[in-house]
Amino acid sequence: MCGIVGYVGNKNAQNFLISGLKRLEYRGYDSAGIVTLSADGEPTLLRAKGKIANLEEKLAKNKRDDKIGIGHTRWATHGEPSETNAHPHQAGNIYVVHNGIIENYKELKAALKEHEFKSETDTEVLAALIESFYKDGKYPLSNAVVQALKLVKGTFGIAVVSTKTPDEIVVARSGSPLVIGVGHDETLIASDASALVGHTKQAIYLNDGEVAHVTKNSVEIKTLNAEPVSAKVEEIETNLAAIQKGGYDHFLLKEIMEQPESLKETLRGRVNLAAGTVHLGGPGLSVAELRQIKHLVIVGCGTAYHAGLLAGYYIEQFTPEITVETVIASEYRYRNAYIPKDSVALIVSQSGETADTLACLREIKKQGIKTIGIVNAIGSTIAREVDGGTYVHVGPEISVASTKAFTSQVVAMVMFGLTIAQAKGVKPGTLRPYVEEIAKLPEEIHSVLDTVVEDVKKIAEAHKDYDHAIYLGRDTAYPTAMEGALKLKEISYVDANAYAFGELKHGPLALIDDRFFEMALLPEGDLYDKAVSNVQEVLARGGHIIAVTNVENFDLPVESVVKITTSLEIFTPILMNLVSQLFAYYMTIAKGYNVDQPRNLAKSVTVE
Ligand code: M6R
Repeated sequence: MCGIVGYVGNKNAQNFLISGLKRLEYRGYDSAGIVTLSADGEPTLLRAKGKIANLEEKLAKNKRDDKIGIGHTRWATHGEPSETNAHPHQAGNIYVVHNGIIENYKELKAALKEHEFKSETDTEVLAALIESFYKDGKYPLSNAVVQALKLVKGTFGIAVVSTKTPDEIVVARSGSPLVIGVGHDETLIASDASALVGHTKQAIYLNDGEVAHVTKNSVEIKTLNAEPVSAKVEEIETNLAAIQKGGYDHFLLKEIMEQPESLKETLRGRVNLAAGTVHLGGPGLSVAELRQIKHLVIVGCGTAYHAGLLAGYYIEQFTPEITVETVIASEYRYRNAYIPKDSVALIVSQSGETADTLACLREIKKQGIKTIGIVNAIGSTIAREVDGGTYVHVGPEISVASTKAFTSQVVAMVMFGLTIAQAKGVKPGTLRPYVEEIAKLPEEIHSVLDTVVEDVKKIAEAHKDYDHAIYLGRDTAYPTAMEGALKLKEISYVDANAYAFGELKHGPLALIDDRFFEMALLPEGDLYDKAVSNVQEVLARGGHIIAVTNVENFDLPVESVVKITTSLEIFTPILMNLVSQLFAYYMTIAKGYNVDQPRNLAKSVTVE
């Protein structure tokens, strides 16, 4: 969603702010802005609707060599995307950028009679509130920020500067991430460490309820209750190559194609092929604790939810006496669900910042249930708040559509399931096939990506005029179909929905006509014949089927077939999902849409 950057040091602040905002573009935004201050406090405020390129046009005519500033990419919540609603917002001498939502902004606004509001945003209310404590020298800047935040209900990550003190930035967070980069004679601010890569490797991740007073040579952190906090400086692991396109036209294609390597990182040091076992250090549960688990709740949104659904199917296959319930975080947080005491919750999130998933984590912890994170972003809020966790280690995922994270989330969760099964004493013979296939997956992914890409591209181009699609699968291919449909709808804007094959006759079969094509996922296995009968039913009604299958002698009269050659039997759906990912990519290219930043969406959904 929105992005924040800030700079105070000896270099040109405008340069860092623009390059930092570009790094955060992937998060999704619809306007952008920066303010810098000269040494005597003269502000240069530049804001523009739309892409950062529009802001750069304004910058070309307003270049300054200021050494301090803050910047923002805004994803509209209160008020339309426009220059007036873009951040930074000003009140008197104060400029503010803000991620999150001020829930009580209407009441606060009503009391701020002296400020003439220009925008429709909640952020301008916050700026005016800070200014009401700051003006006339009532409080120094950091105290004025604290006084204001004490009155605020909602979530925020903010950065504040004042024209009266052009050598300090005040930042604060509650529910919206902020990282402080510590450099040599410079301090950098960002809502996401990727903006800091290449500038410094030393970062301080602010915790909820903390306020930092930042100058070029100092970072002083306190809680909102004025208790001093000793800053923990951590290393930023990401390198520049990981956040660049690396020769690909789009991040999405790069991220699809790098799955053999990203999955190897997930598996590194965790699979003992000789013993047929897996070993996860992060969850931190003893064998006795693992043995007691009878119930797994898996929580996530979007792709993370689908990964949880698919992993759940697998975990139930090999773990005795366990039930897996995979839930959508935005629903679960408001359900009055009782979680049995012998449960563990898996909190799944690529970004580690998704608001609904984070809210579920906090609710579940209140019930005394152990929480295990399946997270990608190191140091993210979810990663820090769970009781234990398994990082998926896929590196930065920049494209809004999640691909490599899905594959590794499924495998990481299956490995967690195997850890439980091992502790429960499940026969090694039952578990070994899973472990062996997991170990083979990176190579199998590599070979499928290599062989299907041209076919998938042709088929996608041939279907570019369709606006409706149905994805179909049974058993493990069903959550895989759901993920395929999500990928297609979010980037190519095709109205794509997934159904379990067995559900067709209960309604969706009525849809089959020339407006739709059907993507049928048909892995070899016990339920293949049943799925074939369903395919026949669709064919009989004039369906336009694309079959994805690893069945060698597949001979159904469908319109297109993507053949997968694999030695896998269990994890074939993960390979089929690669086809769905590539299909969505090429369909979007053929339709001429923005692949990496689809309309209306943000990479990290940090508001409800
Ligand atoms: O960062 P998270 O894994 O928590 O994000 C969850 C969803 O917002 C995310 O998977 C979303 O559905 C993707 N855009 C799908 O490609």
